Amino acid sequence: MTVVPVELGERRYEVLIGDGVRHQLADVVAETVPGAIRAAVVTQAGIGVEVDPGLPVERFTVPGGEDAKSLAVVEHLCRGFARSGLSRSDVVIAVGGGVVTDLTGFAAASFQRGTSYVNVATSLLAQVDAAVGGKTGVNIPEGKNLVGAFWQPRAVLCDTEVLATLPPREWASGRGEMAKYAFLGTGLAGGAASSLLGQPLAEQVATCVAIKADVVASDEREGDRRMLLNYGHTLAHALEASAFEPTGTLDLRHGEAVAVGLVFAALLARRLGRIGDEGVERHRQVVGEFDLPWSLPAGVEPERLVSFMARDKKAHHDLTFVLDGPDGVEVVRGVGADDVLATLAEMRASETGDRP
Ligand SMILES: NC(=O)c1ccc[n+]([C@@H]2O[C@H](COP(=O)([O-])OP(=O)(O)OC[C@H]3O[C@@H](n4cnc5c(N)ncnc54)[C@H](O)[C@@H]3O)[C@@H](O)[C@H]2O)c1
Ligand SMILES: [Zn+2]
Repeated sequence: MTVVPVELGERRYEVLIGDGVRHQLADVVAETVPGAIRAAVVTQAGIGVEVDPGLPVERFTVPGGEDAKSLAVVEHLCRGFARSGLSRSDVVIAVGGGVVTDLTGFAAASFQRGTSYVNVATSLLAQVDAAVGGKTGVNIPEGKNLVGAFWQPRAVLCDTEVLATLPPREWASGRGEMAKYAFLGTGLAGGAASSLLGQPLAEQVATCVAIKADVVASDEREGDRRMLLNYGHTLAHALEASAFEPTGTLDLRHGEAVAVGLVFAALLARRLGRIGDEGVERHRQVVGEFDLPWSLPAGVEPERLVSFMARDKKAHHDLTFVLDGPDGVEVVRGVGADDVLATLAEMRASETGDRP
């Protein structure tokens, strides 16, 4: 088992990573939420990961997919918590992927103005990203993750054994988020992906968690440094937004969209004179090593994507990107829509990203 601390002073907590770590839940709860006398477990049908918090438990099952991240489901959960007699000194346990950890974390943040919670992350994406860092929230029709709170868990358990049942597309999605870390980790850049991919799975997860923990510890509420975790995400969010449109036909998992976004960010950085051909090639190579396609999906409308980028809450009033450059990956503001459109056209023209 590997333990990665998230150093946030009095909100410090640990991420436990390895095969079978879910069986440590009772000990972890006893240690990190000592006053708890009952627990609420929130999960989804189909995840099938049983956990024992070592306390009397009320179990809640939420729907699958992004629709579960709604205020209606938060209300449903909080009413259920209240009816089961859960108090502020008790504990909520999220058992699932990023949908369950985002939703449950926000319900815990809201219930009685803040109840302790522990994440048992069961998807690769949640283990390497969503379950760590305390960003919780739900969607509203006006946009994804627009309602939420920074609310740190008391602990996170990343049990790599439970990934055995994860569907192939969800593995791919997690790998897209891992590819992002390959460009962020100090000492990882360059031959990054191969050194990450060469490790046993639990170590790969631990490496990603350590990078995220380091960024979160230095910038909990997302100034510029935490924004680096959005590398590849400006285009990814725009692709996802177009996929969610009523007329949308795109079928992309989050991490798959991030993979496309990483190569796009490299092409944009080259257009802006920040990196050269080699830098672009490195991005294509890394994304390829993670076995992900990076071509712009057919049917997306470049102008529409730019309008979504302008609306992305992380983009403020101009187009903001996280881009590679001579000093590594950094936040770049004031990028012109023309350059973005030209880069999208360039991507379209070089359709060699092996989309199956
Ligand atoms: N808070 C953050 O910092 C952060 C970061 C990245 C992503 N996110 C959020 O995470 C969400 C995506 O998370 P995700 O990719 O985990 O999707 P998800 O939670 O929808 O899980 C993917 C699918 O896999 C299933 N599943 C999960 N674990 C399984 C297992 N062990 N065996 C079999 N099936 C399993 C789920 O039921 C679901 O159908 C998005 O809503 C995104 O906004 C949040
Ligand atoms: Zn992401």
